[in-house]
Formats: sequence, structure tokens, C-alpha cells
Amino acid sequence: MSPKRFLYSITAGRKKEGIFCRTGEVFGEMRAYDIIDAKKRGAALSEKEIRFFVRGVADGSVSDAQIAAFCMAVLLRGMTDEECFVLTDAMARSGDIAPRPNFTGICADKHSTGGVSDSTTLVLVPVLCALGVRCAKYSGRGLGHTGGTLDKLESFPGFNVNLTAGQFERQVERIGGAVAGQTKSTVPADKRMYAVRDVTATVDSIPLIASSVMSKKLASFADVILLDVKYGDGAFMQSPAEAEKLARLMVSIGRKAGRKMCAAVTCMDAPLGDSIGCNAEVREAIEVLKGKKNALAELSVFHSEKLAALALGIPEAEARRRAEEAIASGAALKKLAEIVGAQGGDARAVYDESMLPLAGNCEILRAAGSGRLKISALALGKACCALGGGRQKEGDEIDHTVAILLKRRAGDFVREGETVAEVYFNREDNDALALARGAFETVQTYEPQPLVYSYIGEED
Ligand code: URA
Repeated sequence: MSPKRFLYSITAGRKKEGIFCRTGEVFGEMRAYDIIDAKKRGAALSEKEIRFFVRGVADGSVSDAQIAAFCMAVLLRGMTDEECFVLTDAMARSGDIAPRPNFTGICADKHSTGGVSDSTTLVLVPVLCALGVRCAKYSGRGLGHTGGTLDKLESFPGFNVNLTAGQFERQVERIGGAVAGQTKSTVPADKRMYAVRDVTATVDSIPLIASSVMSKKLASFADVILLDVKYGDGAFMQSPAEAEKLARLMVSIGRKAGRKMCAAVTCMDAPLGDSIGCNAEVREAIEVLKGKKNALAELSVFHSEKLAALALGIPEAEARRRAEEAIASGAALKKLAEIVGAQGGDARAVYDESMLPLAGNCEILRAAGSGRLKISALALGKACCALGGGRQKEGDEIDHTVAILLKRRAGDFVREGETVAEVYFNREDNDALALARGAFETVQTYEPQPLVYSYIGEED
């Protein structure tokens, strides 16, 4: 074999064909094979190598098998923060990058790594808009057992989540906020890599999650970004320590790219709100905007406070007071109706719950014993999907009327036979109903974790 063909150095000092190589030195063709091989051996990749690989993902010259091998090598060997930043930047640049529009005012965004009964976006966006903070919120669809904001918004009859970049920008300028999906041409490298990760057990890698999430943020134009990184039973990250590591990495990537960043590490052992399923979660978000107090309200106000304080440059206590006032005065609810109407949705549903119906069959779930209630977010998220409330595979239609309504909270003392939840469904599925029943356990002692484990502020 001619040494010229792929004499290409990954780490300094490695001798290939008798020649000493400096880091990143290129003697011949760069190949995806060598990059994967180097990561497999634990080497740190150079900027050129990472950009070469990501370009190949986007233009199709790197195969799915090579993407899978690369992702597994990263999952097992990790990446330095510098490698991860370059990977994120290269992914963001693999498609269209939305330039910062020249309208005045700080633009905010929030991103959750995925949970069950987490409709904070539906509360936070109208609250922030009511406070005069622009919200350019790009959201996603449900992933695995977790719910997706775009699916929930489609509960409003006619709601259009597919705005063009121009429509999105004009709506943010005109009424202060928009919530939509990113277009096909945004971060195509992530779309391909994510699809491969999903079927090759390589989702739960901190550098891969960080680059996937942050590439989409860097491709959009928000100035201030809050990350809600979940840990626990219903989240990708199992422990708060892992979630905090992921949060810090994403914050550092965003800051390096010039964005104002903050992050909250929050618990997802039990569902956040009291409702699971699209119509039910939209109903609950509306109730919170009408003043209902629960964990969903608490976290939505927490996030609103942090983002408003950063965006408006006011003390957090003042930001909280304004957020609570936006809810109490009805200004935030009015904003939600305005956003729904602007995106083609029937805003009457904001004021008429019957337009967000629940399925016709109901099974009551009762406590199997007396004691403290433990609730598995993972099992309920899976049960909701299996009943048709989420997708089992890409492209599946969602039944928006499927719902699980919690009647008691995790940590409550319950007596045997007491109602703990109601399950609403159209298509009877005994396995799914058994999964829902199994999500509830009564134990002698159980103290739920605090909602917010830690917060990484602007100064941290
Ligand atoms: N959400 C994303 O967008 N990417 C991941 O890798 C995980 C969660």
C-alpha cells in the first residue's frame, strides 16, 4: 500500500509507515475510517477531522454504519470540551443558520432535554411575551416516552407548527413570540445522526446530547437561552450528577458561541404536572395560566423568572413578581390566545375546554395498598404512547384525546383502594393499561426529590 494514500496523523508522535506525525497533520486523503479508528483508541480529534466527518454526514459521503461506529466510539471514549464545541459548531453549520433579525429587544429561548407531563413551554412563552421578552422558541416532537411541544400545540385545531424562517421571524417581531419546528434545512447533520443514534443505543452520551441540542440552538437566533436538564426515572440522564455535567457542557458551548446561558437541573422521577397526553396537557397549561398552582406552575414561574431577569436585566425577585402578575391579570392567557391565532389555530379552545376533548373510555386506577405513593414517569409516558397518545415509530399518528390524569401526587399518603389516576383511551390495550397500573406503588417511606436540584446562573 502506498504510504501517500492515507498517511494521516490523528495524534502527535504516532508513527505511520515510519514517519513521525504532528497532530492534525495531513499527508494524504482524510478518511472517515481513520477518524473513527482514532476515536475508538481514545484520541482527541482535531478540528479538521471533526469538520470533515460532519460534512460527510451532511452530504451523504459518510455511511450510516460509519455514523453508528463514530457515535459508539464517542459514547465509550468521550470527547474533550473543545472537541464537543467544534462538533456542535460543525453540526450547526451543516444547514441554514438564522441570522439575528435586527428588531430591538432581547430574544429568549428555553430547551428541555425531555420529560413527561412537562408543558412549561406552553406557560412560559406567553408569560415572557406578556412581560415584553421576545420568545423565539423552536420545539420538537415527542421522543420515545417523552412528550413534544409541537404535538401538544397541534391539539389546537388548525395550529401550524411549520412556519418558514421568515414567518417565524415576523411573528416574533409582531406579537413577541412564536413556537415552531425547525425547518428541514436546519442542522441536517443532527437529523441524520439522531436517527442513527436512536436505533444504535447511542442516545445517552453526554457529548452527543450536548452537540445535538446546542447545534439547534446555535442555528437559531435567541440571545438568552435557558436549558432545563432533566434527571431521574423518566429522563435520559439517570443521576443529578450526570445531568449537571451535561448542563455545564451545554452552557459552556452556548457561552463560547456568544449566547447568554443559564440552566436548571430538575427532577423527572414522577411526571411534572398532573396530566399526560396532548389535549390534557394543553388543558392543564391553560389552567396554570388561569392561576392553578402545582409543580408545573412552580417550574414554569421559576424558568420565567430566570429568563426575564436575564433578558430585562432586572433582579430575579422583580422578574418573579412580574411573571406572577402576568398570570394573575390574565395577560399571559391572552398572549397564548394571540399566538395560537397567529399560527392559524382556533383560539376559542383557550377559553373552551370542550374543544380539547378526552377519549371516551375511562379506567380508574386505585392504590394497591396503603402508604406513600411512588409514581414512575417512565412507565406512564410509555403507557400513554402505547395507548396511542404518542408514537411507537416515526410517522405514527397521535391520538390527542388519550390522557392519564393524576389524582394524587408522588409522596402523598394514600389508602388502599383510593383513586390515584384516571386513564382515558379509545383503543383498549391490556398491556398498556397494565403498564399504567404498574406505575403506581405504595411504600412505607418515600420523600420525593426537590423539583430543582441545582441552577447554573449567568455568573456560574
Ligand atoms: N434532545 C435532542 O435534541 N438531542 C438529543 O440528543 C437528546 C435530546
